[in-house]
Amino acid sequence: MPTDLSVPESVKDYYGRVLKSSADLQTSACCIDQAPPRHVTEALRNVHDEVLSRFYGCGSPIPPALEGLTVLDLGCGSGRDVYVLSQLVGAGGRVIGVDMTDEQLAVARRHLDYHAERFGYANVEFRQGYIEDLRDVGIADGSVDLVVSNCVLNLSPDKPRVFQEIMRVLRPGGELYFSDVFADRRVPAPLTTDPVLLGECLGGALYTEDFRRIMADVGCADVRAVSSSPLTVSNPDIEHRIGFITFSSRTIRAFKLPFEDRCEDYGQIATYRGSLPLHPHAFDLDDHHRFPANKPVPVCGNTADMLAGTRYAAHFEVIGDRTTHFGLFPCAPAGPASGESTAAACC
Ligand SMILES: C[S@@+](CC[C@H](N)C(=O)[O-])C[C@H]1O[C@@H](n2cnc3c(N)ncnc32)[C@H](O)[C@@H]1O
Repeated sequence: MPTDLSVPESVKDYYGRVLKSSADLQTSACCIDQAPPRHVTEALRNVHDEVLSRFYGCGSPIPPALEGLTVLDLGCGSGRDVYVLSQLVGAGGRVIGVDMTDEQLAVARRHLDYHAERFGYANVEFRQGYIEDLRDVGIADGSVDLVVSNCVLNLSPDKPRVFQEIMRVLRPGGELYFSDVFADRRVPAPLTTDPVLLGECLGGALYTEDFRRIMADVGCADVRAVSSSPLTVSNPDIEHRIGFITFSSRTIRAFKLPFEDRCEDYGQIATYRGSLPLHPHAFDLDDHHRFPANKPVPVCGNTADMLAGTRYAAHFEVIGDRTTHFGLFPCAPAGPASGESTAAACC
């Protein structure tokens, strides 16, 4: 493992020794308050109890159309999402989980044979390392179709480096789909190093606008919020320390494509074919783009590329190109209560 990273030992200690199960968490930040989609719930029934008991995620970062993909789970912990994804990518796909903590990986690896037997194939591997240096764990440039992560990126001391690595390992048109804790303002310095606040996924939470800036810097000028729900901390001592900061759990979608930094209108139209497995009636690209099956919908240039330049292309008819420009695309994200933006570009 690289030695120049200042990943706090306290984070390893928190997930390796302090927490023994989800019940030991001091807040509800690293917990899901919504039931995952039905097919994920069904896949979870096949996952070993010990793996489930050490789940510390804050969302369900599992997009559709997974069959045959190579998926990378950053900060996979005990492997819950890896074993769900293993079933959804099928025998022709593969899932690689990366985590730095011995104790978490020991649980994940202990049940490799159990899951292989249950699924009828083995397509999973766990690698120990830091998400800031994926070269060190052998992830080559452009080798991954989908990067997922569940409540981990907030823990990194070098988030720009993590997002840079994600963009390096994704193939062109590949997708980043992750759930994490975000803040409506920058968390003050003393709180960012507090071992409990950090471990509980609050101290390192990214301010949404800084996230947008980091993504633009690593080459992705348009990221989309799929969902967002406010976090209830439910711990009077921690509530007192965080003051007015509002935290939310968000699921974010981004693609490795050369987007414009605003949504521009080229007169393009996208029609969803209704063909994505489990989505016969509509596909939600993000929290304000629903594509009902067979209904032509005007889209900006970036959205057109997200649908036509990725694995979703087979499920959409996108008409038009960028030959004629009609100005800025009239489109705005659903406004969150706190007033902060949910997405990185204008739509
Ligand atoms: C909140 S837990 C989430 C684990 C898992 N994704 C889940 O949903 O159960 C955070 C995990 O990220 C790992 N982690 C945190 N920072 C990391 C880093 N810089 N590199 C690799 N793993 C990291 C921790 O070891 C821990 O297993």
